Amino acid sequence: MFSKPAVSVLLICFLCEVPIFVSHAPLNHEQGKVFQQQQQDQETTLSTSDFMKVKLDITREIVGGLAMADFTKIAQGAEELKKLSLESGWNVLTTPDYLQLSAEFRGSTDRLRQAAASKNIDGTTLAYFEVTLNCVRCHKYIRDK
Ligand code: HEC
Repeated sequence: MFSKPAVSVLLICFLCEVPIFVSHAPLNHEQGKVFQQQQQDQETTLSTSDFMKVKLDITREIVGGLAMADFTKIAQGAEELKKLSLESGWNVLTTPDYLQLSAEFRGSTDRLRQAAASKNIDGTTLAYFEVTLNCVRCHKYIRDK
């Protein structure tokens, strides 16, 4: 689908920062840790906004994994994103479109995990690109609503 140079350009773009696509305030790593801790404690005291920001934190971890060809880190990130999308806090909307977008997002996280398992950096980069497209599609849907 993409030539190797195209993949390189994509990778460089992603390395610059995910907010090319998802522009939001920076987030510190503590929030991710707090989130995990609270999940362990079975508490749901995080606001929707903080819950949603965790996605960006995990996405950055995945970008770091791509940069270092750390396939374990990428696979873990993909798994965490999928888990997050199954939490009740994810379903702020229950329209059929939102559920469909969520299902497509989950599918792309599965493909990212599988691509990482195959340890092919170009394939994994493209799979990450697909996940990012799904982030953007859902946010566009929410904005247009
Ligand atoms: C199926 C829908 C959906 C997908 C896919 C999705 N999001 Fe979101 N996202 C939301 C919703 C809903 C909100 C909350 C919007 C609001 O509060 O108005 C949100 C908010 C956010 C916010 C803003 C948090 C804040 O309030 O500051 C960030 C950052 C974010 N998402 C990152 C991501 C990233 C990164 C991905 C992909 C890895 C992603 N999202 C995928 C639905 C989605």
